[in-house]
This record gives sequence, structure tokens and C-alpha cells, in this order.
Amino acid sequence: RIKRQAISAEPSGLDPAKLTDVTLTSYLKTKESGELIQKALMNNDFMKHLEHGQILTIMDCMYPTTLSKGCCVIQEGDDGSTVYVLEEGMVEVTKQGKTLCTIGPGKVFGELAILYNCTRTASVTALTDIKLWAIDRQNFQTIMMRSGVIKHSQYMDFLRSIPSFQSLPEDGLSKLADVLEETHYGDSDYIIRQGATGDTFFIISEGQVKVSQQNSPSDEQVTVTTLSKGDWFGEQALKGEDVRTASYTAVGDVTCLVIDRESFKQLIGGLDEVKKKQCENNEVKEKLQAEADFFSSVS
Ligand code: CMP
Repeated sequence: RIKRQAISAEPSGLDPAKLTDVTLTSYLKTKESGELIQKALMNNDFMKHLEHGQILTIMDCMYPTTLSKGCCVIQEGDDGSTVYVLEEGMVEVTKQGKTLCTIGPGKVFGELAILYNCTRTASVTALTDIKLWAIDRQNFQTIMMRSGVIKHSQYMDFLRSIPSFQSLPEDGLSKLADVLEETHYGDSDYIIRQGATGDTFFIISEGQVKVSQQNSPSDEQVTVTTLSKGDWFGEQALKGEDVRTASYTAVGDVTCLVIDRESFKQLIGGLDEVKKKQCENNEVKEKLQAEADFFSSVS
């Protein structure tokens, strides 16, 4: 269960680590223009799954431009550098000289070459004088990737700060950060119920969690301890005993990072194998070196 961004385009030439450094410029627009852009983005098949924050940021960064009737906005086969939203006028979309459709106000176009790193799939020509909102490729792709990149780096920082995870290599932590799911609980919510089956592992990233146990159904629940940020629980389920041995309830608002058994086993198993392989490789290297040393000493 690897989490992915809604849009699967892999922007070429962009280093995800540097995306947080890109400065985005916002352009003033009227309320009506802002709403038109937002609606256009939300109605576009390729963009409607974006997070609301991403839609707002794209809208914010779009700059105005105008073109006269008859101008070519996009030439089929070119490299794409801009995504547009049409605010006023009409454009015609053609492919190899044949008309595909005409587009009116409130529609996105020019998104395909940017989202899928392909050349322009069609030509777009202004049928009237037109008013457009535009966003450049780099800004667009930065916004597309940014929320995921920021979340990932926050998870990495957090996982690195947990003593139990400090021995994991960076790529292992990074994979954990990819698969974990953030879940939220309100005061007194059960995160785990004693006796229930379960196959998830929890790391507390915010708030406190009360651990309680009941020795028999007729006994009172006894509070065993209270866990806080950076503590983890539910590990028995990952070892194969999937009946929960205690109850875990939220004390106030709680956020947990949840890892399912398969992901956890896979990642840790994988990491162990890497370690084992490294060990074996080192052993082989040492053996070869010892042989070389021996032969050089007798020759
Ligand atoms: P892009 O390929 O970047 O540049 C040309 C644009 O024309 C394309 O993105 C779409 O926005 C648009 N387009 C291509 N094919 C069609 C189609 N069949 N119907 C509507 N719009 C299209």
C-alpha cells in the first residue's frame, strides 16, 4: 500500500528535494476570476483529485495573458511549458489539421503535456480575442508535488527522532514514510480494543494514549500507562499474535501514524536482508583480502 499522489506524472528535471525551495509568485485576481479558475481546475478530469490546497495555490500563481483572434496558443508536437484556463473568448482544438472541439470560458487546456511529460497532443488556436490565465510548467509541477514532498520530509524528521527507528537506514525510513497512514482520534476514542484482532502498528505523532488492561471480563479496566509522542504500540500484531493484549484510548486529540503488518514486515524484512547481504559481502571481501595477503606474503 504505497501512497501515491493523485496525479502520477513524474516531472522530469525536477529534484523533489528542492521543490520546497522554489518561490511561488502570486498574482492578484478578482473574486470572480479566482472562482472561475478554481471551478475549471476542479472540473478537469486530470486535476479534480488534487487537494483543495493545491487547487488554491495553482489558482493563486496563475498570471493573466491575452491573445488576439487567429493566434496559435499551442502548437501540436511542441514541448509544453504552460497550462491555461480560458476566461474569455473561444479556442479551437485541432489534431493533424482536424478539429477535435471548441473550448469556451472556464475550461483548462494545455495540461496534458505538462502532466504526462509528452509533447503537445493537439494545437489550440484563438477563434476570438481571448483572455487566459496561465501557469508555468515548473510552478505547476512544484505545486503538484509539494504537499506530498513536505509531508514525506516531516514524517522522515519525526521517524528519525524516535530512538527505536534510529538504527534504520535512511532509505528504510523513507519507505516507512511512504507507506504510513495518518489517522486522527478524538478524546476517549478507542484506537485498539483488548481482545480484538488487528494487524496494524501505531506510532503516536501527536497527543497522549492511555493503555489499559482487563485481566478477566468481570474485572475493571486498569490503566497500565500513558504513552505520548514518539511512543509506539501494536507490535504484537506484527509478530503474528494478532489478538490485542491491551486497550489503547485517546486522551484528548491524538494523531497516529499507522503501518500495516505487510508493509512493516516487508520493509523491515527487506532492510534485514540488505544488512545480511552487506555482512555476507563484507565476509567475502575479508576472505579474499586474507587470501591475497597470504599469497603476497609467500611469493
Ligand atoms: P496539451 O497536449 O498539453 O496541449 C494541447 C491541449 O489540447 C491538450 O493538452 C488538451 O488540453 C487539449 N486537448 C487535446 N485533445 C483534446 C480533445 N480531444 N478534446 C479536448 N481537448 C483536447
